[in-house]
Amino acid sequence: MKRIGLLTSGGDCQALNAAMRGVVKCLSASGAKVEIYGFIDGYKGLIYGDFRMLTGKDFSGILTVGGTILGTSRTPFKTIHLPDENGLNKVEAMKQNYHKLRLDCLVILGGNGTHKTANLLSKEGLNIITLPKTIDNDLWGTDMTFGFQSAVDIATNAIDCIHTTAASHGRIFIVEVMGHKVGYLALNAGMASGADIILIPEIPYDINKVIKAIEKRHVRGNAFTILAVAEGAISKEDAALSKKEYKKLKKASPYPSISYEIADQIKKKGGFDVRVTVPGHTQRGGSPCPYDRVFASRLGSEAGRLILGKKFGFMVGYKNREIVKVPLENVAGKIKMVSPKASIVKEAKMLGICFGD
Ligand code: F6P
Repeated sequence: MKRIGLLTSGGDCQALNAAMRGVVKCLSASGAKVEIYGFIDGYKGLIYGDFRMLTGKDFSGILTVGGTILGTSRTPFKTIHLPDENGLNKVEAMKQNYHKLRLDCLVILGGNGTHKTANLLSKEGLNIITLPKTIDNDLWGTDMTFGFQSAVDIATNAIDCIHTTAASHGRIFIVEVMGHKVGYLALNAGMASGADIILIPEIPYDINKVIKAIEKRHVRGNAFTILAVAEGAISKEDAALSKKEYKKLKKASPYPSISYEIADQIKKKGGFDVRVTVPGHTQRGGSPCPYDRVFASRLGSEAGRLILGKKFGFMVGYKNREIVKVPLENVAGKIKMVSPKASIVKEAKMLGICFGD
């Protein structure tokens, strides 16, 4: 009998259920006898021993369902070593619950923060396998994370919808796409929807260049302009600040987010009327796209194979079109960002897309 724990941690995304289904389907197809312990709301469930037993039936019909059947929460790594409000040592509590249930392995689905804790638990001697989820696609060690393509579809659709109204009215529109630290989503959704200007955190912008790009379009007879702006887009001036100064500046900002600040600057400096649309958490919601269903199922089945082979301490990832296993210590604490020199950025520029640099 194999006793497998499952948990989903951090912001949810599409295909979490598809990935868990993949793990369980692979194990049951092998004929192995398994008991599945599903921890509720991420690491919280493991800390406080909050779990429910799951059977094959729980994984039936969930391939296409968004969100996570286990629930999720954010348990920041930076406070993982601090006792909770009742003095409980969270790391010890997770270890104890793992051992009390005599688990053979814990499968953890998560993004960057989740992987730091997963690596810690692995170093503490627990058998851990992880799966890379996040709409941001910013996990080190994998070319792709599940959730990303579904979010690209949603953000693209949002920009497509804006395109027709922007063109009809001859307006400037900013669509703010998720991604605080990295711009994969804004870059891909922006290119997919024919955005004229794409601003991402990795390429600090000069507002004058952004306005120039809009003016150039006007001169050419294009009355409308679409900007795909990542949540974490940053001006050249702000990028030159220290982290502390930048945080202080943002705290004092009268704008709800960067897009509103950019809109205001375009209005004041360029004299254009600008509208802002923020699709927000819709980008993480709803049914996974077919690509993510297939991708998450593949990752899940590989995780099942690793469990059967007793190979632990790995994230199942995707490199050069192959499903691979990556040691957790190579993943934890790193972040994958868009390189300003990446060929996709060069190609986008050759298409005439302005990055404000
Ligand atoms: O999970 C990633 C992400 O969706 C980011 O793209 C976004 O910046 C952040 O989470 C939003 O976090 P929350 O759901 O906690 O508001």
